[in-house]
Amino acid sequence: MAPIAIHADPQAPVFPAGYAAPPERKSLYKVAQLGGDGIGPEVIDAGVQVIHAAAKKLGTFSVDFNELDWSSDRYKKTGSYVPDDYIEVLKKHDAIFFGAVGAPDVPDHISLWGLRLAICQPHMYANVRRTRILPGTESPLRNCQPGDLDWCIVRENSEGEYAGHGGRSHRGLEHEVGTEVTIFTRTGIRRIARYAFQLAQSRPRKLLTYVTKSNAMRNGMVLWDEVINEVAKEFPDVTMDHMLVDAMTVRMTLHPKSLDTILATNLHADILSDLAAALAGSIGVAPTANIDPSRTMPSMFEPIHGSAFDITGMGLANPVATFWTACEMLDWLGEHEAAKLIMAATEQTCRDGVKTKDLGGSAGTKEVTDAVIQRIMAA
Ligand code: NAI
Ligand code: MG
Repeated sequence: MAPIAIHADPQAPVFPAGYAAPPERKSLYKVAQLGGDGIGPEVIDAGVQVIHAAAKKLGTFSVDFNELDWSSDRYKKTGSYVPDDYIEVLKKHDAIFFGAVGAPDVPDHISLWGLRLAICQPHMYANVRRTRILPGTESPLRNCQPGDLDWCIVRENSEGEYAGHGGRSHRGLEHEVGTEVTIFTRTGIRRIARYAFQLAQSRPRKLLTYVTKSNAMRNGMVLWDEVINEVAKEFPDVTMDHMLVDAMTVRMTLHPKSLDTILATNLHADILSDLAAALAGSIGVAPTANIDPSRTMPSMFEPIHGSAFDITGMGLANPVATFWTACEMLDWLGEHEAAKLIMAATEQTCRDGVKTKDLGGSAGTKEVTDAVIQRIMAA
């Protein structure tokens, strides 16, 4: 096997300049390892192996993973996903490496709020989701090659439709009512808009598309439009355009090349980023970074996908999303060389056809992981 070249990242970084810089390089990082449920522990274990391999190859740092058993099993035994002092526990780490949460016998709103949202809200207000077609993989779109689809979606991660405001009354009666109140604040919009503009500015095309639904939603979404247009004045070198979310699904599908950095609300970006992952080939390759730009809290890195009950324990889960996620975590920690090394090895593995079933291959989680480690060591 020919050694792989560590080439420059084909994209600009996910993390724009202008925010808290990484702390000084460390020789040892402490990372909270939260596999969670379903395939979460399977892919996170694979990610841990790959990070250890990169650290060993480079010899400049190591990572101490602190495995925490916060999961639906813990909830079923103790009534809680996390211990009371979970924020204090997490703060002792440089980053959080998270799998997925969700179990067939726990309602999804209990599991999501019990673990993932408990950790991410409200500090990690920027949810950054890169999408591109990896070499050796295919988009379901006709005539869409690697390079034609290269997006970075910025999702507002702390408020909006997922603020948790609302309630239910008259339970069980015919006139039962449930409300889900969307919360948008000037502060929340401004800070995520600045993040997205800085990110767009750091990417070669300097192009930002922001998404709202300010025709039908005439209050909060109009506030979004107003605040974004104010923030845009701070970034005259960034070209900005606006899409309504329904039309955005059409543009993503029919004109993927016309997009670069994308900013949207919590709900809209949640949906658009799943579409993005599918258009790029598979939900099994898509990474997410939940960033606290102030670095008050350790940021959390996770694959986009969920706990995938249908393939849990079968050794079929695609670990590529987790490897890409690991690269973003290492980038955030300032370990750019390790991030590039893992990404290059992952891309080479895809190019060599060592792929899981979701990408049309026949390899299992272990084969893909071993292949990536082999390429890291041979680099
Ligand atoms: P899902 O992402 O778990 O699965 C959707 C489909 O994609 C399934 O067919 C699954 O087999 C496939 N898939 C997902 N990841 C894959 C991978 N790495 N390799 C190969 N195939 C993969 O979404 P679903 O089924 O809607 O949700 C299952 C559970 O996960 C629910 O409890 C849900 O609430 C939870 N969930 C949790 C998330 C999180 O923790 N961030 C995100 C999304 C869902
Ligand atoms: Mg989602």
